[in-house]
Amino acid sequence: MIKTKSMKKFICQYFKYLPIIILTLAVSIALAQTPNSIPHLQKKGSATQLIVEGKPFLMLGGELGNSSSASTSYMNSIWPTLEKLNLNTILAPVYWELIEPQEGKFDFSLVEDLIFGARQRDIHLVLLWFGSWKNSMSCYAPEWVKKDYVRFPRSRDINNKPAEIMSPFVKANLDADKKAFSELMKFVKKIDGENHTVMMVQVENEIGMLPNARDYHPDAQKAFSELVKFVKKIDGENHTVMMVQVENEIGMLPNARDYHPDAQKAFSSEVPKQLIDYLKNNKKNLMPEFLSVWEKAGSKTKGTWQEVFGKEISTDEIFMAWYFGKYVEEVTAAGKAEYPLPMYLNAALNRPNKLPGEYPSAGPLPHLIDVWRAASPSIDFLAPDIYFPDFAKWCALYDRGGNPLFIPEARYEPACSAKAFYALGNHQAMGFSPFSIESTPDPDKEPISASYQILKQLTPLILEHQGTGTMKGFLFDKDHQVDTIHLGGYQIVAKHDFTLGWSPQSKDEIWPVTGGMIICTGEGEYFVAGNGIVLSFPGEKGGKTVGINSIDEGTFENGTWKSSRRLNGDQSHQGRHLRITTDKPEIQFLKLYKYE
Ligand code: DGJ
Repeated sequence: MIKTKSMKKFICQYFKYLPIIILTLAVSIALAQTPNSIPHLQKKGSATQLIVEGKPFLMLGGELGNSSSASTSYMNSIWPTLEKLNLNTILAPVYWELIEPQEGKFDFSLVEDLIFGARQRDIHLVLLWFGSWKNSMSCYAPEWVKKDYVRFPRSRDINNKPAEIMSPFVKANLDADKKAFSELMKFVKKIDGENHTVMMVQVENEIGMLPNARDYHPDAQKAFSELVKFVKKIDGENHTVMMVQVENEIGMLPNARDYHPDAQKAFSSEVPKQLIDYLKNNKKNLMPEFLSVWEKAGSKTKGTWQEVFGKEISTDEIFMAWYFGKYVEEVTAAGKAEYPLPMYLNAALNRPNKLPGEYPSAGPLPHLIDVWRAASPSIDFLAPDIYFPDFAKWCALYDRGGNPLFIPEARYEPACSAKAFYALGNHQAMGFSPFSIESTPDPDKEPISASYQILKQLTPLILEHQGTGTMKGFLFDKDHQVDTIHLGGYQIVAKHDFTLGWSPQSKDEIWPVTGGMIICTGEGEYFVAGNGIVLSFPGEKGGKTVGINSIDEGTFENGTWKSSRRLNGDQSHQGRHLRITTDKPEIQFLKLYKYE
């Protein structure tokens, strides 16, 4: 009895504190897990951040040349260069042929060396899976895949000639890639699941068809022939259907599918329901150029590829993107099942005014974002490799519809220094990464290194302001010299420094690319960083006049701003503008005020 009473008392007391105990347990579990959680993506306002060790991470990156991580001793020779570039992230290839030299026999020693090499230097990694496709081709497929072309078939061109592009329509190809990729992810989890040196993975590299818009392999054509099969099933006895028009594109390309009866049959197949459902469910949010293709063909929700998307070469590309996307989806899902790091795809961009096939057709391109999203829901985002001049245009095309911007490759040139500020400031990019980052004779003098040194200081502020509408970026050259923005209660006119005409080079035919970012920390208060920019502050029409209260040059030390010089004299043209010359990037703190 006594026992029972005391037991009851104990139970009552226990239950009284139960919520507190549960809460405490939950909080401690959460706290214990947060820093150690797998790197993942998280929305912050309009931005998406990469979270590593429980904190947002801004990737100041560089992608290695294709062959650099194929040898540990070569990596050892370039680590010192990489360490001097002020970067915190390396994008490094992992090669299918080197991790699986014999079928089913995996050797991850290179990957292990790479991860330990980076970790030792406090550098993070994004792994690039050079699997089935690398720049459209299958050059990194293992020898046992390359040589066994019967088991692992290639894509066919319109003359039935195989190209060294593994066909995405063949299950054996998919299974082999999937197996290797999931073994890789399993290994990464094993040696890095606690440390998170590896933060993200790129699945394949620059997928696309060259030089044709689509694959003419019989299996590809089989994929199209669902309708024909269906017609046979329901009409094979009745013969209501008497004939099929199998070619609709004659004249679209010099070598249309006339020579390939199977290919033409394939075009009679229905667009899969999954894609049709995506179109219907996302009609209001489709990318405008894709929506217009669909609308031009009549916005149909049933029919063959050409019925739904039109009798254009672009339909070949849409069709091909779908099947590349389905393949990649399976590879990605298999990898994520082992270790669900964020995974993305990169695109070789479509050269303007060129037809699919004249550029790598069907990759994760701006006009195909919807197709890829529908086909590959396990892919977290699509990313542009920007080698073309109109950097701002490409950034904008990928910063759409909730696709966060990350630039895994950019042409390695002095302009990168300004482009990094622009991408991170104007598009809240998760990161920026010039290609072949190690290929510099003088890393200390690389313009990107100077920018990264500044961006490193600004990182906490940038991350805090991402997604809040308080940060903008600028990018200027001779063709684009001025931007006007409204931020923090003031109108700000930003220009290329050479618009002042004070630098002797301003008379040159070509101006260097310059740029920067501005972060508003309060009404009339801003941090401005970059190089080759000049900002002035005309008051709003009918409003008070605006004056510069102060401009300070300085640095962030462990996240705290330290002013070093007041710049209210010649450096600001006696209070007329804020200027950062083209000499080197820097940070200035600006305070404005209004008077009348
Ligand atoms: C883009 C590719 O993704 C890289 O691997 C490399 O081939 C570069 N092009 C070369 O410019």
